[in-house]
Amino acid sequence: MNVKLIGFPRHTDEYGSLVPIEASDNVPFEIKRVYYIYGVDEGVRRGFHSHAELKQVLICVSGQVTILVKTPWEEQEILLDDPQKGLYIGPMIWREMFDFSGDAVLLVLASDHYKVEDYIRNYNQYEETARQYFAEGQSVCEDRT
Ligand code: TYD
Repeated sequence: MNVKLIGFPRHTDEYGSLVPIEASDNVPFEIKRVYYIYGVDEGVRRGFHSHAELKQVLICVSGQVTILVKTPWEEQEILLDDPQKGLYIGPMIWREMFDFSGDAVLLVLASDHYKVEDYIRNYNQYEETARQYFAEGQSVCEDRT
């Protein structure tokens, strides 16, 4: 599956909560880069791209944000509102991020360094490439109950 939710363990005691994340354990790749997005104004929508090879896990460590994940055949909106919840997005998935709460901090773990050439920012180009990448009609999003 190129899109799936990951649950992270939480250690809570009288001193607060701690969520450990281990590459290759509860994140399915070696982490080479970390970045975070915050201070996003109401009404702003960002992303609008796919990656050819990059794998990422998105975690909203504060507040909430909605992520649209899309292929030529299907799309899902996923609410990230829990620091224990990670959204894995593999290669060739179109994503948009919106409805950031004022306190939202979106932490992103990435499998590679920042490479401009890995981005596909034109949606028509994305559709064409994705139709070749995936078998026609293949479901790439995990079923969610
Ligand atoms: P951008 O890719 O436009 O963000 P989004 O797709 O989430 O809307 O990135 C915003 C800016 O940050 C852009 O100038 C590129 C830069 N940037 C880096 O320098 N390194 C990084 O790892 C990332 C993700 C972005």
